Amino acid sequence: MEKDRLRRRTFLKILGLGSFLATVGLSIPITVRFLFPRVLFERPSTFIVGRPDDLNPATTGLRVYEDWKEEYGVWIVREGNRLYAINARCTHLGCTPNYFADEGVFKCPCHGSQFRSNGLNFAGPAPRPLDRLRIYINDDGMITVDRARLYTYKDFDRKGAYLKL
Ligand code: FES
Repeated sequence: MEKDRLRRRTFLKILGLGSFLATVGLSIPITVRFLFPRVLFERPSTFIVGRPDDLNPATTGLRVYEDWKEEYGVWIVREGNRLYAINARCTHLGCTPNYFADEGVFKCPCHGSQFRSNGLNFAGPAPRPLDRLRIYINDDGMITVDRARLYTYKDFDRKGAYLKL
């Protein structure tokens, strides 16, 4: 009788210990999982273009800089003493146009829309000019573009849609 009670007690102790270890064993991966959440890190919306002097102050007429297209999807355009940032996204269905410097034309490979060097549409189904992004001088005196602030055609003359050098 006493022997049975001891066996039962030992069995319950082992069962309890097993349950405890199983619970701890299962909770460790869950805890670790919370330490490393699956989060997509997005790049900041702003990027530095450079100092105003970096963009060839001697430029007259219009010049399109493609240096930021690949990484940020932005063309910087200098038109006289005005600087603006064109969003490299077709206003038809969002494809990325290409710039043909020899023709001075942006051409969309998807449905054939075409835009002049200043982003104004003149051929194809695009309903409006290419959008512009906020461009400003930051506290360190650097030309900065904020991709989170978009200007459509009607706002091209608003502060932030261009920068006067
Ligand atoms: S997405 Fe550019 S023309 Fe259709």
